Amino acid sequence: MNKNKQTPRLVWFTGLSGAGKTTLANALHKKLSEQGFSSYVLDGDNIRCGINRDLSFSPQDRSENIRRVIEIASLFLDAGIIVITAFISPYEKDRQKAKNKIGKANFIEVYLSTPLDVCESRDVKNLYKKARSGEITDFTGINAPYEVPISADIKIDTSNLSIEKSVDKILKRVFK
Ligand code: ADX
Repeated sequence: MNKNKQTPRLVWFTGLSGAGKTTLANALHKKLSEQGFSSYVLDGDNIRCGINRDLSFSPQDRSENIRRVIEIASLFLDAGIIVITAFISPYEKDRQKAKNKIGKANFIEVYLSTPLDVCESRDVKNLYKKARSGEITDFTGINAPYEVPISADIKIDTSNLSIEKSVDKILKRVFK
């Protein structure tokens, strides 16, 4: 507990594109804010437009993306802010790095296990279609790997749990 009357923690969402990471991250942020907690969302789509705009989706650049996110997240944690991250983060070793850097007690890994066919049918950004047609060659789940977490703290399939129930599940586990 710090002077902001909250324990700074990192809630790390991982899962395929379209699994619901950004939606749940924003919903969690809103709920925390209503309850008087200060949190901040770091999201693949916004971070990659700014500080990480030099990075591609090669395995090396994805790891570098996550390395920088971990560094940014720890600055926010130092400032006493609850951090919520929404990145595919497809590699177990990178997620483990996050856990090691932040410390097990304050790192909550939330694996969105929403099946590929559901993510693909949502296709909000039309990227799955492009990946299937070969226009994008290294798209996670289609022609680039996603390593399922081996020790996720919470697992949610957003195709059968509502946003509200998902957020409650996370809150119950993390911010009792
Ligand atoms: S990560 O793999 O490096 O963790 P990150 O979460 O930052 O990925 O970015 C994923 C987002 O970038 C996706 O939601 C999607 O909108 C977009 N994107 C563009 N190209 C790709 C690709 N080849 N693979 C995955 N996502 C991509």
